[in-house]
Amino acid sequence: MKTMREKTLLVQSGRPAGGIPHSVNPPVVRASTVLFPTVEAMQETRRRRETGEQVFSYGVRGTPTTHALEDAVTALEQGERTLIYPSGLAALSAVLLSHARPSDHIAVIDTVYPPVRQLCSSYLVPRGVEVSYFAPSPEGLMAVLRPHTSLILAETPGSGTFEVVDIPALAAIAQKNGSRLAVDNTWAAGFFLKPLTQGADISIQAATKYICGHSDTMLGTVTVRGDAFTPLFETTTMLGLCASPTDCYDALKGLRTLEVRLRRHEQSALQVAGWLARHADVSEVYHPALADSPGHSIWRRDFTGSSGLFAFALSLQLVEHSAAFVNALAHFGIGASWGGFESLALPVKPGSIRAAAPWAGPGTIIRLHIGLEDTQDLIEDLDQAFSHIGALA
Ligand SMILES: Cc1ncc(COP(=O)(O)O)c(C=O)c1O
Repeated sequence: MKTMREKTLLVQSGRPAGGIPHSVNPPVVRASTVLFPTVEAMQETRRRRETGEQVFSYGVRGTPTTHALEDAVTALEQGERTLIYPSGLAALSAVLLSHARPSDHIAVIDTVYPPVRQLCSSYLVPRGVEVSYFAPSPEGLMAVLRPHTSLILAETPGSGTFEVVDIPALAAIAQKNGSRLAVDNTWAAGFFLKPLTQGADISIQAATKYICGHSDTMLGTVTVRGDAFTPLFETTTMLGLCASPTDCYDALKGLRTLEVRLRRHEQSALQVAGWLARHADVSEVYHPALADSPGHSIWRRDFTGSSGLFAFALSLQLVEHSAAFVNALAHFGIGASWGGFESLALPVKPGSIRAAAPWAGPGTIIRLHIGLEDTQDLIEDLDQAFSHIGALA
């Protein structure tokens, strides 16, 4: 593909080549069986697919729609290869299962997407993998690193609490130790952060969130560079992990408008976060793009923007009314999966899930996803929720 700027790339990547009339996006190709003209042609295709080549050989190995999405996400993440999974959690699991063998040690950031802990404690640890959680900093990683650490799994900013971690510094540590660094890049949607250009080996996304963008599709992506591909490919093939081509088609459509949606999420979230930061009943806003946020300088250096997800804490005397605050909101849905066009609010209790360093903030904080509604409506809604809990206090 010719060199192009990122907005053009999002519009054009993974699309059919010209020459003959074709639809704008690749069509949905659904298949289990693929038919071949001869036995020899089938054998040749199977031989090529075992080398990792993208060939249309059987539904579980992807169809042309899956391969088109793989190519588009590879271009977005500036990696070398992408594989697609049925959910973001499946993508994370594929990375852990492929890069952690019995007697290996893995280091997982303490701010990881919480269900990853379950995979570690209920599956990896009983099978002889040692797991340590590290505080989200290079020093935190150094404190748990071992000579046999095979994989470091980071997420930036952290799930629910938005600590920014220094990816180039983690990458330097990983490289020196002979470990692979994987980064959950869902918050930045592969657009505002490029971990693979900052030394990471693996970038993971829950495409369920911003790439699909309409809260109706589950999908995960893993993009790699270098020799991180082979174990991932082997594990994915062995487990028969694949995603529906219809869902891949949704993701390809989502990619076309990703930049426009993200910019609106960004602007609106900054407006709401700024309003909350000035509110007398708010003790803290956890948003890395705010100048006084602890991770702000790293965010400014490594990211090119911010998305729509952040959190805030009610002032101490109101914290116990966090659930009542969320219940009082009219324009915010109460739900888990963010990244869609709609606003969401959810009370979160970070203290209950930390292992490396105790959570220093209040027991409950409120996570907001700012959607594409009119920001003034959202602010007025938050305002009336403050009045509602003010009357309870
Ligand atoms: C940061 C992050 N990574 C991964 C996931 C998992 O994605 P999925 O819901 O597609 O399994 C989530 C889901 O909320 C998430 O927030």
